[in-house]
Amino acid sequence: MEKVTVISIQKKKKSKDILTALTCYDAFTGKLVDEAGIDIALVGDSLANTRLGYANTIPVTLEEMLHHTKAASRGVQRALLVADLPFMTYELSAAQAAQSAGRFIKEGGAHAVKVEGGKRIGPSITAMLKANIAVMGHIGLTPQSYYKDGGYRVKGVTPAQVKDLKADAKYLEQLGVFSLVLEGMRPDVAKAITRSLKIPTIGIGAGPDCDGQILVLDDLLGLTENSPKFVKKYARLRQSMLKAIQAYKKDVESRHFPGLQHSY
Ligand code: KIV
Repeated sequence: MEKVTVISIQKKKKSKDILTALTCYDAFTGKLVDEAGIDIALVGDSLANTRLGYANTIPVTLEEMLHHTKAASRGVQRALLVADLPFMTYELSAAQAAQSAGRFIKEGGAHAVKVEGGKRIGPSITAMLKANIAVMGHIGLTPQSYYKDGGYRVKGVTPAQVKDLKADAKYLEQLGVFSLVLEGMRPDVAKAITRSLKIPTIGIGAGPDCDGQILVLDDLLGLTENSPKFVKKYARLRQSMLKAIQAYKKDVESRHFPGLQHSY
């Protein structure tokens, strides 16, 4: 199968083919996502809460994200591998952004990076693009603004928010991002933004009219205990895993495992 590139991602918008994207966090999940034929494998900073036990995405460090991106790159062969730049590794200056993003491409094996925000991070995005790094934008509910927003807040609710979202989307397109994640916003707003742009939008909790969809892998697999309203669970793996571990414990304690068939 042909490798997915930023160009083939953009072509899908022109040909009106829907884009598929999922998060992955290591070689195992990268390989699974890739094998399923998903277009974009995102090493999301949701790594923080799904795997590393942090309460939200704020504390995850560049080194932690890099470690997991390297692992994912060993599992992904066909999909476009995108890595999230974590909080406080790109907002401070253009140089900081280019340096951080450069490490994900050069050391991490990522093909592109994703950053949260619109106009306020314009200089950082420009610097990364100047350094020949492909950038994916992310607006709407941006989890890295958790403390600033006082929690996870759906966007595009007030007329002022709608205006800001539309302006940020246009601004990011003009700057040169190759695609744009729209998270946690009213579906009609996501639809209007999608229609107004030439670059593809990828929705998460943003309704059915984006050019593609992304979910957190652990949510769709049913590995997370509580997932948001917009998630469709395609499996209940946490329950199956817990049952398997409990069954093993019971077998060992009752001396039913190992049997002779498990011995040399
Ligand atoms: O980190 C993440 O999981 C994300 C979502 C958009 C999927 O950024």
